[in-house]
Amino acid sequence: MVGAGYVGLTTASCLAQLGHTVVGIDVDPIKVHRLNNGEIPIVEEGLEAITQQMLEAKRLVFQHGYSDSIKVAEFIFLCVPTPQDEDGSADLTYIREAATSLLPYLASESIIVNKSTVPVGSTLVVEEIVRRDDIFVVSNPEFLREGSAVHDFLNPDRIVVGSSNKRAAQRVADLYQSINAQVIICDPASAETIKYAANAFLATKLSFANAIAALCEHVGANIDDVMDGIGQDKRIGNQFLKPGPGWGGSCFPKDTRALVKIAESAGYDFELLRGVIDFNEIQFDRIVDKVRKAVGGTLTGKNIAVLGLTFKAHTNDLRDSPALRIVEQLKLQGATINAYDPTVANPLPQTNFCETAKDACASADAILIATEWPEFALLNPKEIGNVVRSKHMIDARNILEADLWRAAGFTYQGVGR
Ligand SMILES: NC(=O)c1ccc[n+]([C@@H]2O[C@H](COP(=O)([O-])OP(=O)(O)OC[C@H]3O[C@@H](n4cnc5c(N)ncnc54)[C@H](O)[C@@H]3O)[C@@H](O)[C@H]2O)c1
Repeated sequence: MVGAGYVGLTTASCLAQLGHTVVGIDVDPIKVHRLNNGEIPIVEEGLEAITQQMLEAKRLVFQHGYSDSIKVAEFIFLCVPTPQDEDGSADLTYIREAATSLLPYLASESIIVNKSTVPVGSTLVVEEIVRRDDIFVVSNPEFLREGSAVHDFLNPDRIVVGSSNKRAAQRVADLYQSINAQVIICDPASAETIKYAANAFLATKLSFANAIAALCEHVGANIDDVMDGIGQDKRIGNQFLKPGPGWGGSCFPKDTRALVKIAESAGYDFELLRGVIDFNEIQFDRIVDKVRKAVGGTLTGKNIAVLGLTFKAHTNDLRDSPALRIVEQLKLQGATINAYDPTVANPLPQTNFCETAKDACASADAILIATEWPEFALLNPKEIGNVVRSKHMIDARNILEADLWRAAGFTYQGVGR
């Protein structure tokens, strides 16, 4: 497993649990040392336990160098980052570097499995680096969600394997034999497109929910009922219909932009997806506007409590978090920030980071719920009302009971409620 981050570490530990022998390789020696001691640097339910069990069972070990493990590996998974380049396209530097590092050690008949999210055609990029007829390159995109990565890996909705070589594809599919899921075997370009199309569709669904929420605010409808009403329709489905502060995280922003670029280079203007991306930027501004209006029209000199900084609950991942985008805007418009997040230690410059949600609310002119951590839904409006300067609640995740907060004297704004 080349790369021991969110995807690589989860894949390594879960494949070991399925009975395989796995070596996790990472360029970060400190991470490797900690992982071998069973210390998990990310917040993922169940991952620490599985990793420790697999280390003890000696089916999993982490290494810094490539040579020994690659020489005997039948499958080499690439789980390295594919960040956004300056123009929005996917940067393949890590993929190229990792593939190049493997070259001296690859055993005959071994298969390089690309699990990173890569633009259409990247299987060919790796094949061109390797240039060996006895080595196969297979696309096997990953669909896990951070926060439930282990569950998702072991209970996937489907497994996608893309290869021009049927036998290589089947060998990769067989690795997952004990998992009960449909396996879709297709060509590499289709497998790569499936991953981007899935993320683009989910982002579109969220933006649609945010647009309907905005409409609800104009026409006096309630987004919770509207989304329940459409989500019951099996053709639509009830997942990913929750409005919020705009989508973010390590995947949707970069993958949607990359797909626009992939389309552009292939001569297709993906206008729909461009619209979805632009609309998401507006959603961040709409939340900032709600806070500004709540405090009387200007943020200058106002103290805002921001509860939640990660891009969603049950992770410690801050990459492209909507909360951070909103905090940045609030600060630019003159507000000071008291922030709290259960999994993050002081990540922001010029932000007062607090030990508890209640501490963050002390002397606040308004409170913004930016991440849907369950503990925020349990906050006591009366207790919080006693410590704030002004009682204004902006619930960008729609997790609070509005009536309770209003009864305690707060103004309450949700998204589409
Ligand atoms: N995070 C997710 O939820 C998720 C879900 C599906 C797909 N993906 C995709 O999976 C890929 C990896 O994402 P991630 O979130 O796990 O990234 P990450 O940043 O958490 O982990 C990447 C790891 O790779 C290591 N690395 C970099 N270059 C290396 C090299 N040459 N050799 C060995 N190790 C190297 C880094 O040190 C790091 O530990 C990306 O393409 C991403 O788009 C991510």
